[in-house]
Order: sequence, then C-alpha cells, then structure tokens
Amino acid sequence: MTRPLQIYIKTYGCQMNERDSAALAGKLMRLGHAMVEREEEADVLIFNTCSVRDQAERKAVGKISYLKKLKRRKPELLIGVIGCMAQNRGESLFRELPHLDFVVGTGQLHQLPEIIASLREDRRQIARLATGSEVLTEMGVHQPEAKLSDFIAITRGCNRFCAYCIVPYVRGREISREIGDVVAEARELVANGTREIMLLGQNVAAFGWNGNVNPPPDDVSPFADLLKELQQIEGLYRIRFTSPYPSYFNAKLIAVMAECSKVCHSVHLPLQSGSARVLKAMNRQYTPEQYLQIVGALRQAMPDIAFSTDVIVGFPTESAAEFEETCQLMERVGFDNAFIFKYSPRAGTRSAEMPDDVPQAVKEARNQRLLQLLSASAWRNNRQLVGTCQEVLVEGPSHRNPARWTGKTATAKSVMFAPQPSVRRGDLHRVTIARVTDMTLFADDIPDLPSE
Ligand code: 5AD
Ligand code: SF4
Repeated sequence: MTRPLQIYIKTYGCQMNERDSAALAGKLMRLGHAMVEREEEADVLIFNTCSVRDQAERKAVGKISYLKKLKRRKPELLIGVIGCMAQNRGESLFRELPHLDFVVGTGQLHQLPEIIASLREDRRQIARLATGSEVLTEMGVHQPEAKLSDFIAITRGCNRFCAYCIVPYVRGREISREIGDVVAEARELVANGTREIMLLGQNVAAFGWNGNVNPPPDDVSPFADLLKELQQIEGLYRIRFTSPYPSYFNAKLIAVMAECSKVCHSVHLPLQSGSARVLKAMNRQYTPEQYLQIVGALRQAMPDIAFSTDVIVGFPTESAAEFEETCQLMERVGFDNAFIFKYSPRAGTRSAEMPDDVPQAVKEARNQRLLQLLSASAWRNNRQLVGTCQEVLVEGPSHRNPARWTGKTATAKSVMFAPQPSVRRGDLHRVTIARVTDMTLFADDIPDLPSE
C-alpha cells in the first residue's frame, strides 16, 4: 500500500452520488486512508458532481476554480472530479480547470483508489482520465461504522429520455443488479446494524425489467419480487426506494407494497407537470389522469400513504394556463414534500433545441407559488395526525436541541419526542402526536415552548 492519505470528499446532487461517495470512502478507509472534514487538511480533494441542472455544474466548477490558490501553495495536493459532470464533460474539464489531476466518470469509480495511488507515486504523470460506459461494478463496500439508514443502488442509468433530462446521456442505458446480489448486500448491512434500507435507481421500479422501455404488465414486477425477498430479512425494519417512474406502479407492485409490512408507506412520485400537453412535450409517458389513477390506487391499498414529488416549472412553451393545471393537480394530490425545479436547458437533450422562452422572473414566481401550495398541503396533512399514535425509527438527540430526540415515521416525517432511558437509537418507538408544523411533528411528551 502507498502512504496513508488524508482524503476529503464533497458530494453534490442526488442520493446515488451520496451512496457512491459513502462507498468510496468505505473502500479508501479499508485501504488505510483517512477521511477528513476540512479541505486544508487533505492530501486529496475529490468532488462528486451532478449534471442534472446547470446550477449544480456551475457550483462545482466555481468551487474547484477557487482551489487553484491552495494547489499553488501545496503542489503535492491532488484534486479530482468524479460523478456525472466528470462523465459528461470528460477531457474538456482539464482545459477548463488546468489544476485538476483526475477526472473519473460514473462507471469507472472502482478504478479511483488505483488512480490516486499511481498519481501519488509518479509525480510526472499530469492527469488521469477514466470515463466510459457505465459498468455495474458495485463497490458494495460500506463505511466501517454502520448507518441506521443506508443506501443500496439496484439499478443505474435510464432508458426513458425525458426531453429535458441529461441522465440517459450521462449515465447511459438502464442496468439492474441480480436480485441475490442485492439481498446479500442488504443482509450484510443489517448484520452490521443498519435498520432501514433505501433502494436507489434513476428508474428504481424498473429493476429487473432488463432495460425494456415498456412498463411490465399488471401481474409482473421484478421490483416487487425484490421487495418480497427483502421483507424476509430479520432485523431489517424499513424498506424505502427512490425514484420510481410513475408507470411502473402496476397492480402487482401496489399489492406487494401493501402486503409487506417493512415497505414504507411513502412514495416519491415524480410528476414534472400537471398539463397533458406539457407532459407530452417532456416525453413523459403518462397523462395527468393516469398519474391521479396511480395515486388513487396506492391510496386505496395504503390509506396512510404520503407522497412527494418533483416538478419542473418553466419548461419551454409552458403557458400560464398549463401552469395552473400543475397547481390544481398538486392541490388534488396533497403532497407531503416536493422538489420544485426551474427549468434549465441541458446541452444535448431534446428540449435544449427549443427556445427557453419562459422568463426567469416567471419561473421564479411559479416556483414560489408551488412552494406555497406544498407548505399548505403538508400542514393540512400533518394536522390530521394530531392525536394519532405513530411509530418512529429513533435517530437520537436533535441537532438543534439535544434535550429532545428525533426520529422519522414510516411516512418520512420528522418527529420530536422526549428521551427515555429505555429508548435507544435504532429502536422503533411509539409516540402520540400533540402538535405539528408543515415540517415537523411533536409528541405529547415534550412541553410546549414559547418559540414554536
Ligand atoms: N431542468 C430542471 N429540472 C430538471 N430535472 C431534471 N432535468 C432538469 C432540467 N433540465 C429535475 C426533474 C427530475 C429531478 C431529479 O431533476 O424534476 O425529476
Ligand atoms: Fe431523467 Fe426521465 Fe430518466 Fe428520470 S425518468 S432520469 S427524468 S430521463
């Protein structure tokens, strides 16, 4: 092994990136290296980047440009970019950021420890580039210390080609892992102390569908088969997943979700728009009516289910009336959470050919309006929970007020409650809800504070 190094990893973007950074940290630590929290202490700085929106790329490029000075003071420092922007921009990043030492794409992450070692050993090497199509070499290595809730990537890539989205170009075609492989990884995590697993994929419910672009018929769902297998793991309390494309919620998947007690009644269901015409222009394969049908079927099977979503405002040609349809649909579903994005054109995608014709100020106003609708619906939903008993997966003392403890319901809502000697991190604990905001539930065992 080379000399132990101090390594700093900064992660931008989605949970897949968080998962990759954690796995990479685990792998590097097993090789004897240490993770550090501050850039100044590091021998190697790694930026795990996102390309989904322009802003995410600009943030990372800005940050790395700024490190030029640090590199001048400390020439042995290695700086590298990994993740989607590395995959997307490849070699051109070396021209834009000449102080970079390595650029490693999403499919080549497993090569990183070796690349770092070779760059450290041979200072004459200037830079290393490793990008290519996604290969499914899951590092499967998690941090030595178990996390209460951990991620497992089960599919990668996407075949759907939504008009605005760069993911299929950057991450390539959809590929799934073997079911046995995923179950083995889950068992390993649970044996180590993990209690909740979040299954990840750009199109997670297409798991095992072998890249077939048509959603499976009503009685077939390899993803549901996986959920059933995971349900059997003793010591695992909760199963979550993100993000499923709406059309994959067929009768089989909905029935299995309802029947498996560990599958959380919380679904992230990306809507993108409530207008049939805009959805079509986005190349989304469902109508607003079909979206509502899926919501209805899930609610019927699991009445306490909570929904979150993604919406894009200001997609090219989106009219005021079409935006109103999105508002109405948001009202009808009554989401508990939503990520609202202002449209940003991504070079190479189909919608980048269309004029970006909704003014920035209009995008901003639409964004604000949806955030208000969301806050109102989340508050309405939470108010219904006052007086109910909720099961909480206990996380421990709250960061803001360590006299209170915090945890999450199966519907992914944060709950504050009073600590008790018999209740420990990782337990399932039942509390009665006394007060709520649009973001947080408060149990009846903590006193009112004037500040709330
Ligand atoms: N502009 C704005 N938002 C986008 N998203 C994806 N591509 C774009 C884009 N070009 C949003 C979608 C997706 C989420 C991860 O990011 O809502 O669901
Ligand atoms: Fe992008 Fe659409 Fe695939 Fe989601 S389903 S990753 S939005 S192309």
